[in-house]
Amino acid sequence: MAMLFADFDAESFLRDHWQKRPLLIRNPWQSWSNPLEPDELAGLACESGVESRLVTQSQASWSLEQGPLPQDRFGTLGKKPWTLLVQAVDHHVPAVAALVEPFRFIPNWRMDDVMVSYAVDGGGVGPHFDQYDVFLVQGLGRRRWQVGGYCDDATELQPHDELRLLAHFEPAEEWVLEPGDMLYLPPRIAHDGVAIGDDCMTYSVGFRAPSRRELIANWSESLFAELADDDRYADPALGLQENPGEIAQPALDDLHAMIAESLLDRDGFARWFGQYSTTPESPEIDWQPEEPISLTDLSLALAEGRPLVRNPASRCAFVRLDDARLMLFVNGQCFPCEGPMALFAEQLCRQDRMPVELDLLTSKPALELIADLYNQGCIGFDSES
Ligand code: SIN
Ligand code: CO
Repeated sequence: MAMLFADFDAESFLRDHWQKRPLLIRNPWQSWSNPLEPDELAGLACESGVESRLVTQSQASWSLEQGPLPQDRFGTLGKKPWTLLVQAVDHHVPAVAALVEPFRFIPNWRMDDVMVSYAVDGGGVGPHFDQYDVFLVQGLGRRRWQVGGYCDDATELQPHDELRLLAHFEPAEEWVLEPGDMLYLPPRIAHDGVAIGDDCMTYSVGFRAPSRRELIANWSESLFAELADDDRYADPALGLQENPGEIAQPALDDLHAMIAESLLDRDGFARWFGQYSTTPESPEIDWQPEEPISLTDLSLALAEGRPLVRNPASRCAFVRLDDARLMLFVNGQCFPCEGPMALFAEQLCRQDRMPVELDLLTSKPALELIADLYNQGCIGFDSES
């Protein structure tokens, strides 16, 4: 079941708050219901292949344990405040994936995943800042959020490396969030959330933004893999120069152009970035069918009107080439699409559940694309239909 906003103006949010300043949004949902039970979260934290952390506090000292946690760990926690954090829960739990859909006014490639935390009274991860935008949705119980100023690489941290806690935190604003309330925080703003009472669950709908350093390193690595060794500097017009020690300006211009031509290849960059930004960080949650589907079985199922659903662990995006053509990117692969197939690709990127138009079934390339995505586990048939 999709979770929908009843009262949220995405356009004014983007204009006034996105990447600019925090915003407290009191229960904007049509009807809020906590999508995951605390026990289910604890169960996920014990599974291998799920990234989780347990933070415990005693007086002023913090300790961090990486998951998977032993099944009996929760029985031995005692009275000190603790918090359990589980990463990418939307990839594992469809009801948590549904929570992301109302945030699709932000492009897919900027979306990261949903981290879910569970805390007992007084639990939290301490004052810190993150590099990314986040919507902190209060799922269950209550949490007090304090928000301070902007931080950067020079901001002084406490000696605990992994938790990256702020050495000095001066809250400027403070709110208590109840179930369904949410707080938007732009990147690098200092914040601290502390559970008020037990059974406090917070859903962090997180975004990502590549650093210049990461982009340059990865784009040049991909160029490096493609460039031939005999594509080399040449100077058939070499003239006499007064001092052989000089690296002359015309040589520098030619050398610099060799680099600039490759690095500034806009079309190559678009294709690379589509693939790079849709490559899943963790191995995909397996939706692969036991037997690959044939084109005949696929068209029969689609002709019956069975809607397709996108695997929440799949990353989908596209780059438009012209009115009829685009490049579809799914989990790091590029599929050139045109005509009806391009319309399907747009639908796949727009919504997590899609009925397939009947005239698409007459296009063999479109059916082949759907079969390919289905057999890889990127899409499946809606079991509710
Ligand atoms: C939490 O859910 O306790 C932590 C979320 C955050 O501050 O980033
Ligand atoms: Co944070």
